[in-house]
Amino acid sequence: MENLIKLAREGRLERGLGLTFGTTHRPNQAERVSYDIEALTKKYQIGRKADGSPYRFKILTYGCQMNEHDTEVMAGLLYGMGYQQTESEEDADFILFNTCAVRENAEDKVFGQIGRMRPLKFRNPELLFGLCGCMAQEQGVQKLVLEKFPWVDLVFGTHNIQRLPELVFQAKNSTETVLEVWDKAPETVEDWPKIRKDSVRAWVNIQYGCNKFCTYCIVPYTRGVERSRLPEDILAEVASLVAEGYRDITLLGQNVNDYGVDLGTTNFAGLLRKVNEIPGIDRIRFTTSNPWNFTDELIDAIAQSEHVVEHIHLPVQSGSNRILKRMNRSHTREYYLNLVHKIRGAIPNVVLTTDIIVGFPGETEDDFEQTVSLVREVEFDNAFTFIYSPRENTPAASFEDTATLAEKKDRLRRLNDVQNEISLRHNLQLRGEIVDVLVEGESRTNKDVLSGRTRGNRLVLFPGDASMQGRHVEVEITEPQTFLLKGRVVRAPEVQEVIS
Ligand code: SAH
Ligand code: SF4
Ligand code: F3S
Repeated sequence: MENLIKLAREGRLERGLGLTFGTTHRPNQAERVSYDIEALTKKYQIGRKADGSPYRFKILTYGCQMNEHDTEVMAGLLYGMGYQQTESEEDADFILFNTCAVRENAEDKVFGQIGRMRPLKFRNPELLFGLCGCMAQEQGVQKLVLEKFPWVDLVFGTHNIQRLPELVFQAKNSTETVLEVWDKAPETVEDWPKIRKDSVRAWVNIQYGCNKFCTYCIVPYTRGVERSRLPEDILAEVASLVAEGYRDITLLGQNVNDYGVDLGTTNFAGLLRKVNEIPGIDRIRFTTSNPWNFTDELIDAIAQSEHVVEHIHLPVQSGSNRILKRMNRSHTREYYLNLVHKIRGAIPNVVLTTDIIVGFPGETEDDFEQTVSLVREVEFDNAFTFIYSPRENTPAASFEDTATLAEKKDRLRRLNDVQNEISLRHNLQLRGEIVDVLVEGESRTNKDVLSGRTRGNRLVLFPGDASMQGRHVEVEITEPQTFLLKGRVVRAPEVQEVIS
């Protein structure tokens, strides 16, 4: 196994650890392919429907920010083809599922939805269903779609998004499912057209793929080896977002602290410092950073760059060295605790969040207790906790599993109880404090209530009006809760008329 992981890390094991991919086209990695995306979308104009109305699409997105951002790119491509977006499935002529493969329940949800929506085809014979994203990279899923969900018209993967316009045309003219999934990215494509969902916060890819091969995780297989974008392309994109008025920029990668390793000319600390110097930049975030290779140079760069916010998402996964080793996590409990200590020493008031898996194969009650004790020791501000889900052909899927599902659920509940108590305690300390909030817009449930975030990414809700969107306000926290803070605006420096 060690050997296989080594080969895979070096990129010499093309198909990963026994995972095979259905590939219809595999460009040579050395080939430098450049796509003229604008010409491509112009070539494949969708035109108008018989009644003169535009064709409409709806994309349902599952999974991480990477996927959310891919959805923005695909929306850009579809707009370029002449599609319009719709919120309603009933009005859509193209329903695209941008999927996540990280846990089984994410996959089950997608198949449930595809089944539920099938009748829409009887009402609209022109309706196309598409499936893309991480699930599409799995051969088992491809087979299942072809056999059990033949009404899906199009399947494409994470490496050939640029093929979307042509594939839509192929699917329109075919009675069979069009399936095109590449097992590698030919080149990092630049200048994507993007329809961004938000007007205050924006995502910027800095790196694609992952080389870490944690034994439970499917991402290295669905997203390929790590590829960094060139710093000049990233800086140009961030600068243009700043010019468009975006205020909160998140740099995206599965392993941002490996940024630049493949380029050999720069690293993540250097990139952060450069982004920090972009004139007019407001807040800079990044996700996800791995504890492994979280260098002192990186800690200094975060601490010294005033626009880089005090929030670090630092997935620990487990507090037991035995389990961390079986997870192939490259860090120990002691290393992690020491790292947290260094980070807290260098970055005052840093908000720390994490991901934790319970019920990893072979996790004993004692291992689990060590996770709980680490959580108590670190006192994370928030934790995303998951029950281990075996992913086909990943190493851990063949590890012996001893705990029952009931035991795993019980561990998850106990862990969440401990974390929620800590999150609430931290938030209660903010009662009466005045915090700097960047206003994102109306809250989901009440248009008279605005939502925004602190630099540390804490969600804050407060009464206000839409003119505050995209601005900084000072909010006094009046009602802290476990997952959010409620408050009232005490100063809105950029909107004089609402100062109370
Ligand atoms: N690149 C990020 C994580 C991406 S996946 C990182 O390394 O931090 C997001 C989270 O999903 C992981 O941190 C992990 O906690 C969880 N996860 C991944 N694979 C899983 C699996 N098979 N079962 C349960 N949770 C999983
Ligand atoms: Fe998965 Fe993250 Fe590990 Fe990569 S580093 S294998 S994405 S958990
Ligand atoms: Fe899911 Fe793929 Fe992201 S598996 S978590 S959508 S990289």
